Amino acid sequence: MELTEAVRSRRSAAPVTDDSPTDAQLHEYLTLAAHSPDHAGLRPWRLVPLRGSDRDRLGAALAAGFGDPPGSPEAAKTAAKPLRAPLLLSIVCCPVDHPKVPAWEQLAATAAMIATLELVLFDAGWTAMWRTGPGVELAPVRQLLGVTGTEQLMGWLYIGGQGEARPDNRPDPDVSGKITSLPGPA
Ligand SMILES: Cc1cc2nc3c(=O)[nH]c(=O)nc-3n(C[C@H](O)[C@H](O)[C@H](O)COP(=O)(O)O)c2cc1C
Repeated sequence: MELTEAVRSRRSAAPVTDDSPTDAQLHEYLTLAAHSPDHAGLRPWRLVPLRGSDRDRLGAALAAGFGDPPGSPEAAKTAAKPLRAPLLLSIVCCPVDHPKVPAWEQLAATAAMIATLELVLFDAGWTAMWRTGPGVELAPVRQLLGVTGTEQLMGWLYIGGQGEARPDNRPDPDVSGKITSLPGPA
């Protein structure tokens, strides 16, 4: 796929099939995405893939963290959320102390890598959707994923198969007013 076409037609969508990339494919896609902009080449991130029953464990951790009563409809609803795709990639930013690269730049580098990874996945025929929510701060969730005190859980890429359904083209976003000039002299 040409880059322009891929950028224009990529869509976050609920996967339509239960297929998901293999670990070897994920490694390949991540190798590509890791070419994204990264001050000092720190690659300050890691990904924790969740498949199969790992997703149930995440659902249970979310329900526990939200305080949903065990066995309640709320708990069932929460627990079902990670089942919306066959593969969830947990996104963890792992900032390090660096004399030139503050933590916010490392968050930005992680986001840049994920945006690139979404495009790479789409180009390879998968769907991906970045989802976050208050669950990223919950202690049982962080514990399950082994997220340490200095790390930032940035949500999950929900990944699955595109199947036959191709998203419709949408109009280009209106970016008029998004390029601004220097403010006038005081
Ligand atoms: C950091 C981040 C977090 C997001 N979290 C959610 C989320 O929790 N729920 C949701 O519906 N969309 C979320 N989105 C938006 C979707 O991933 C997606 O970008 C949006 O629906 C627009 O669709 P598109 O990617 O097809 O343009 C998030 C996007 C980003 C960048």
